[in-house]
Amino acid sequence: MNPERQSPMDLAGLTGDPDTSGPNAARMYDYYLGGSANFAVDRAAAEEQLSVLPSVATTARANRAFLGRVVRMCLDMGINQFLDLGSGVPTVGNVHEIAHQIDPTARIAYVDREPIAVAHARRLLRNESRVSVTQADLTDTRSVLTAPGVAELLDFTRPVAVLAISVLHFVRDEQDPAAVLATYRDACVRGSVLALSHTTSENLAPAAVDRGLAIYQRTSTPVIPRPIVEAPALLTGYDVLAPGPAIVTEWRPDTEPGASEPAANTWAVVGILP
Ligand SMILES: C[S@@+](CC[C@H](N)C(=O)[O-])C[C@H]1O[C@@H](n2cnc3c(N)ncnc32)[C@H](O)[C@@H]1O
Repeated sequence: MNPERQSPMDLAGLTGDPDTSGPNAARMYDYYLGGSANFAVDRAAAEEQLSVLPSVATTARANRAFLGRVVRMCLDMGINQFLDLGSGVPTVGNVHEIAHQIDPTARIAYVDREPIAVAHARRLLRNESRVSVTQADLTDTRSVLTAPGVAELLDFTRPVAVLAISVLHFVRDEQDPAAVLATYRDACVRGSVLALSHTTSENLAPAAVDRGLAIYQRTSTPVIPRPIVEAPALLTGYDVLAPGPAIVTEWRPDTEPGASEPAANTWAVVGILP
């Protein structure tokens, strides 16, 4: 457990109807990261998942580290506006914390559809300026882009970093993730960035994958792994930045490549709008 995330869950400000009758991926992910915004039903499913695929906790941390590297890269490039789609329950190393250490004027619009993640975020961020939390489904691009927390906070005439970190594997093929991303791309000016990370099953034992997916199938948020070869299609219109699509721990690692525990079930890719 992460000692920085031991405060009891406070659901003040909850809007929408959280489904707590079954496990939910946002709250399971929070559990992997040592958070407290989860229920017994989430913890049980997360523990079952950890027994099948122990690497999910390592991957969750690797994913957060990738997020941090991307935010710092964007600020180095002069981009100080972030649209964080599927931002999750606030945890250690949130986008606004990293960004504001470097540039206190940075603006961050968090978007998530999960009511408990949003309530938690609103409570924790109520005293933060230049940060908003919007409850919306990222596939409803119009609602996201016209929400006051997005449209009134971010200036789309300047470059924006769109972050879709560990979220698109909850978007079904029939929802057309590439088309969804294209709508965000079209709202952005040149010099904007898109950063993704995505679950894949190609490097894992098929039997473990089947059991792991079956656990998520019981949640309101089934997972759709996609192979790394599908990465470029999701970045249509962007110039893919070096090193190209890579296992998340190998995307511009802070340390020597391969030095950190590999997180083989997630790939990452970043592009910039030419
Ligand atoms: C695995 S967590 C990742 C959180 C954070 N991006 C990170 O990488 O640490 C996935 C988050 O995406 C949210 N999510 C899933 N599908 C979504 C959708 N269609 N629209 C908005 N949020 C979504 C979930 O509620 C959850 O909070």
